[in-house]
Amino acid sequence: MDTQEKIYPVNIDDQTYRQLVLLETGLNAAASGIVITDIHGNIIWANAAFEKLTEYCQVEIIGKNPRDLVYSGKHPKGFYKNLWDTILSGQVWEGEIINRRKSGEFYTEEMSITPVLDAAGIISHFIAVKRDITERKKQELRQQALATLTSSLRHINTRAETIQSILDTLLELLDIEGAVFARHDTQTGQSIVEFSAGPAGIPFQGVQIADTNSIVGQVYETNYPYSSERVREDGSISRPDLLLDNVNALTCLKLDDRGYEVGVICVLGEKPVVNGNMLMLNVIADMASSAIQRVELFEQAQKRMERLAILRTIDLAISVNLDVNLIMNILVDQIVSKLPIDAVDILMVDANTQTLRHMASRGFATNIGLNANVRIGGGLAGKVAEYKRTTRIFKSDIANDNVDFLTLWEKEAFIEGVGVPLLLNDRVVGVLEFFNREEKGKEDEWFSFLETLAGQTVVAMENGRLFESSIKANEDLLKAYDLTIAGWSKAMDLRDRETEGHTRRVTEMTLILAKSFGFNAEQITQIRRGALLHDIGKLGIPDAILHKAGPLTENEWVLMRKHPVLAYEMLESIEYLQPALDIPYCHHEKWDGSGYPCGLKGEEIPLAARIFSVVDVYDALTSDRPYRKAWSQEKTLKYIREQAGIHFDPNIVPIFIAHVLQDSFSRE
Ligand code: C2E
Ligand code: SIN
Ligand code: SIN
Ligand code: FE
Ligand code: FE
Repeated sequence: MDTQEKIYPVNIDDQTYRQLVLLETGLNAAASGIVITDIHGNIIWANAAFEKLTEYCQVEIIGKNPRDLVYSGKHPKGFYKNLWDTILSGQVWEGEIINRRKSGEFYTEEMSITPVLDAAGIISHFIAVKRDITERKKQELRQQALATLTSSLRHINTRAETIQSILDTLLELLDIEGAVFARHDTQTGQSIVEFSAGPAGIPFQGVQIADTNSIVGQVYETNYPYSSERVREDGSISRPDLLLDNVNALTCLKLDDRGYEVGVICVLGEKPVVNGNMLMLNVIADMASSAIQRVELFEQAQKRMERLAILRTIDLAISVNLDVNLIMNILVDQIVSKLPIDAVDILMVDANTQTLRHMASRGFATNIGLNANVRIGGGLAGKVAEYKRTTRIFKSDIANDNVDFLTLWEKEAFIEGVGVPLLLNDRVVGVLEFFNREEKGKEDEWFSFLETLAGQTVVAMENGRLFESSIKANEDLLKAYDLTIAGWSKAMDLRDRETEGHTRRVTEMTLILAKSFGFNAEQITQIRRGALLHDIGKLGIPDAILHKAGPLTENEWVLMRKHPVLAYEMLESIEYLQPALDIPYCHHEKWDGSGYPCGLKGEEIPLAARIFSVVDVYDALTSDRPYRKAWSQEKTLKYIREQAGIHFDPNIVPIFIAHVLQDSFSRE
């Protein structure tokens, strides 16, 4: 049966026929799908856009009920009942509906159904008009998910949670089966899949890839993304055995925030990531890079802090002159409880027998060998004593005939050990040994920190006996503290590229100014540390706020104004830094009492902080910030003059300005 026979009256003149054809052509040209049904809902006519939308052709449509064609099962029964109640009562129904194309793919349409009445006022037909809004819906969903990710990244403060939530978001947003995050070590060429999400990602969890030419390795080293639609066949994947059957495509991207290398993200799917989804993947990769960088720097700062606290505890034990055995025990206790180390012992050289004697140990499950002396040159400790060098060994490095030592490793299930010599004037007086039951990951500063600990152990052993060496090791300790501070400032500059050099410049200017205020050498040292650390609290401020290009909202200011308090909390536990706290804590107080965090007024604000705040604002205003361009020196000085007695100490401003005008800051 022909459509036109059903719709067009039988006996019409030529002119009417031509007009009807014209109308029909018009309907066929419409972008929206249009369907006309009889009172039962059976289709008597549909336009071209409807065929395109549903993927059915005319002959498959006519006489059918649209529901039989496109029913998706995505709506509850009541939904359709309400629809029919509405149109059967003569009203127009409008709404969004999820349907299914012939190929099985779901789509969302915006639909209206209008009942048509005959001459007697009885419903004779329905006309449905449908617009495909699938893309718009997807876009909305993505935007929602991105917003959720952005806000959750603001509150998350561990690296693991950050990376996991990024992978979970990828899985939600992209049409993929799995996602993984891998770290790569350029030196060893090894990669390890640290995190995974989705069924296709999970089999890769924890997998180590030793091959330098692995996909992850290549992407990391070359910065070029990798993408394949037939990953199994192209032969470059190291572990094809771990691919699920439905996975054909793999896309890998390096996460890199302006030179700070984070790792590699890979997504696995049936089909490759294309077009809009590829854009989405890139947007998320950028967000991920900076979010992961932030938490890594934050965790690093925290770790350093914990280490300083250990040094501090031991330092204290030494300074109150506890007995050597007690100090040794405090030392091993701190190491096992506060550091990622499973077992530790201290051995001392017995000058008479030329052997190493165990002084203290923690974390051993057995006591094999702990009572026996170790021959210099034998075992780990003996080797370290002989070569005077920090040494790391694995089980395979132990000689077969060293039965006791091998038995110890087996019974204790150790897999790695590190020995650090205890040196006194270049003479080995003992060895500090660390053992682990699982690999704890390599860290740059790790060894040097263990060596600092070893230095302290020497002080403890020689304490009271060799006064000189204790001074020497105390100097080492101070050096370690100052290195840590320098590391923190670097972490800040790294993160806050826009203010690069700011920390260094304000520190130099502040010291020059402070000297003219008559601070003594010890106070100057504290002021230097304080200036270097002044914005350490910004490490706790999310990127979205710190790097924001425009003015902050009231809520963002609440967080931003916390940075002096965050600094205080980070530093107060370190007794050695307490005299340096004035600047980090009080550099945003104002002379008229309108500053933060305490609203101190006039000379209630420590002098060092009053001096520093002039320098800080001067350098901030003469530098580009994400939220504004640099001011000229002239404009800045005018502003600082105006603020004397309001923001700044009126006695400091003229001295500062004289220094700037005499150019004495850049001359020194
Ligand atoms: P910062 O950029 O290092 O600025 C330090 C101080 O210099 C500011 O402390 C303020 O006293 C002064 N200063 C900097 N830029 C200007 C300016 O354009 N006009 C004036 N009159 N003074 C300026 P403050 O205001 O307590 O801000 C502390 C930190 O908060 C700033 O450190 C910056 O990291 C952030 N911040 C301040 N305003 C904005 C903003 O509009 N957008 C964004 N994204 N961050 C802001
Ligand atoms: C590889 O580099 O061969 C592994 C890729 C992956 O982890 O998905
Ligand atoms: C050790 O290095 O701690 C033990 C050495 C050994 O038993 O040979
Ligand atoms: Fe600040
Ligand atoms: Fe600053």
